[in-house]
Amino acid sequence: MQASSSAGNRPAPRPATGRLGVLTPGLGAVATTFIAGVESIRRGLSKPIGSLTQMATIRLGKRTDKRSPYIKEFVPLATLDDLVFGAWDPIPDDALTAARKAGVLQEKHLEPIADFLAAIKPMPAVFDQKYVSRLSGTNVKKGKSKRDLAEQLRQDIREFKAKHKLDRIVMVWCASTEIYIKAGPQHATIEQFEKAMDRNDEAIAPSMLYAWAAIMEGVPFANGAPNLTVDTPALLQLAISRGVAVSGKDFKTGQTWMKTVIAPGLKARMLGLEGWYSTNILGNRDGEVLDDPASFKTKEESKLSVLHTILQPELYPDLYNGFSHVVRINYYPPRGDNKEGWDNIDIVGWMGYPMQIKVNFLCRDSILAAPIVLDLALFMDFAQRAGMKGIQEWLSFYFKSPMAAQGLQPEHDLFIQQTKLKNTLRHLMGEDQITHLGLEYYPS
Ligand SMILES: NC(=O)c1ccc[n+]([C@@H]2O[C@H](COP(=O)([O-])OP(=O)(O)OC[C@H]3O[C@@H](n4cnc5c(N)ncnc54)[C@H](O)[C@@H]3O)[C@@H](O)[C@H]2O)c1
Repeated sequence: MQASSSAGNRPAPRPATGRLGVLTPGLGAVATTFIAGVESIRRGLSKPIGSLTQMATIRLGKRTDKRSPYIKEFVPLATLDDLVFGAWDPIPDDALTAARKAGVLQEKHLEPIADFLAAIKPMPAVFDQKYVSRLSGTNVKKGKSKRDLAEQLRQDIREFKAKHKLDRIVMVWCASTEIYIKAGPQHATIEQFEKAMDRNDEAIAPSMLYAWAAIMEGVPFANGAPNLTVDTPALLQLAISRGVAVSGKDFKTGQTWMKTVIAPGLKARMLGLEGWYSTNILGNRDGEVLDDPASFKTKEESKLSVLHTILQPELYPDLYNGFSHVVRINYYPPRGDNKEGWDNIDIVGWMGYPMQIKVNFLCRDSILAAPIVLDLALFMDFAQRAGMKGIQEWLSFYFKSPMAAQGLQPEHDLFIQQTKLKNTLRHLMGEDQITHLGLEYYPS
């Protein structure tokens, strides 16, 4: 299977002309915080803190060249003023009501943009309680078959594009975590996938129908949740054959982001690990959905893989063989979206002496996730215009379970991911890679 289109002598990326539609399945805490933030920034009321596309610079050439433009000036990205938002949700609340219920943003930040948010009303969703048991909704499509429902999504995409006179669209999954589904024969080829849609096979979850519809419409698709969704041979094959960029899975925000910062540090210094215990409390709707063991299983799988891949116990058995890794998420309503996480890390040093690291992270989930949605929307649109298709491994930086080509270990180390991201931008824009060798600065 192909990971992404190969480098070669690629033509310059097409410019970002016209308006870009950002469609999110899900209009909950993350999606509304993202939309409200963009509007607030557009009106000069906030700054895009946490967003690489808006705030980061990129070094080009040698250190002595002193060329460090903003990424947004180096790469042809859509501007915030170009963005138009739309969503699907089984709960009919408009974005203002949904943002108020999510309780992430304060009234003083919502009030100045209230009219804008109130005008964003979710389209009826493809939703089935079988896949998210803790939710029920009334704003739901009816259809003869899963194929029929997916065709209705395609129609929504086309109508949204025409209504808002958009040049392009991207889709970012910001909906609830679905139950754990293992890839089966239904996901092996696109023919089998489409037959399974026709016979309403249980292995085809709603998120897969959104992904299928997006790819069929030439719309890049990023998956912010740990659901299997587009990470199947069938949909990857479809994405490549239709020249569409995809990425996933599961936004890398709080505790896992910390893990991918600390674990590479331990490994870089050849310090051992005996165990890593992570627990957290959160009280938002996501926490409620994850209180269901079937949805938590999907999340757990996504969170557990990180340490093994970074630490490589097969290469360093003396340091990392058999360490214990436990992850708990506890639904605790009083905290709302303000998650509190505790990590206890038992590490091992010189002559086997044990040490401990404790992390107590009082984070705000959606505040960390919102800039990721923005960056993914802009970078996925850019990738598409640059002729990239299939898995966008260079966007692993944003995901807890980065998708990778079959048989390839995903890259979890945040700093390697960052280098990969920036080098991909340099590569696509015809600039030299930065190797950090640095010998050219010293006499040979
Ligand atoms: N906030 C973070 O830090 C973070 C990190 C990683 C992943 N995520 C994932 O992002 C997703 C969104 O998180 P959130 O906090 O906004 O959750 P949320 O519960 O506030 O919002 C999710 C929304 O999706 C809707 N929904 C459910 N099924 C749907 C479907 N089939 N089609 C359309 N809409 C549907 C729900 O009605 C809800 O409004 C979750 O899957 C979560 O696990 C969040």
